[in-house]
Amino acid sequence: MDAGTLRRPRVWLPVVAGVGVAVGLGVYGRLHDPSGTSGIGDALRLQTGKVWLATAVMLLAVVQLITSLSVYGKLPSRPGIPALHRWSGRIALLLSLPIAVHCLYALGFSSASLRTLAHSILGCLFYGAFVTKMLLLSRPDESRPDESRPGEGRAWVLPLAGGLVLTAIAGLWLTSSLWFFTTVGIG
Ligand code: HEM
Repeated sequence: MDAGTLRRPRVWLPVVAGVGVAVGLGVYGRLHDPSGTSGIGDALRLQTGKVWLATAVMLLAVVQLITSLSVYGKLPSRPGIPALHRWSGRIALLLSLPIAVHCLYALGFSSASLRTLAHSILGCLFYGAFVTKMLLLSRPDESRPDESRPGEGRAWVLPLAGGLVLTAIAGLWLTSSLWFFTTVGIG
């Protein structure tokens, strides 16, 4: 058995952990009784806050995409880019937490329409893919220079997980904020 074969199962641990988080959130959202929001005025204010916060997360996701392309040599690189990538990711995650806590606790996992079903699935996928990505980053073999680019070694899993995180954020924004802006309005 060579070293590559020995290391292979380690890639699956982050994947299994991510799937566990995604499924766990979905099961919680489905089983728990949504608390709802009190009063139309309060609900609308809260919704407006959430859609703008989600828009900030979406913009940070764009920064994440551009900086990751730069880290992978697809766009011109600058010395501060990796730090910008890390910090925009951290801030995006922090901003997403209050929104998701409200979504999960007060609204739950909804299959009332195709949009809310897609939104609920994407919300769970987002945190699952995020956990997988973070755990992959901590794998020593993923940070090796010779395995740090897509297509070399198994380093393709990292951009794949990152791509899933960004896709989930874009889908979340489309199914919540964009829907809100186009049906309720921007103000
Ligand atoms: C963790 C899993 C998540 C679940 C189960 C979930 C579920 C829901 C549901 C059922 C709604 C109501 C949709 C409607 O009737 O219009 C909603 C709304 C919304 N969600 Fe999520 N969501 C999740 C995560 C997220 C995340 C991560 C974000 C943003 C980063 C987000 C942003 C929003 C926004 C902006 C709204 C519209 C405001 C509102 O209706 O309160 N959600 N979510």
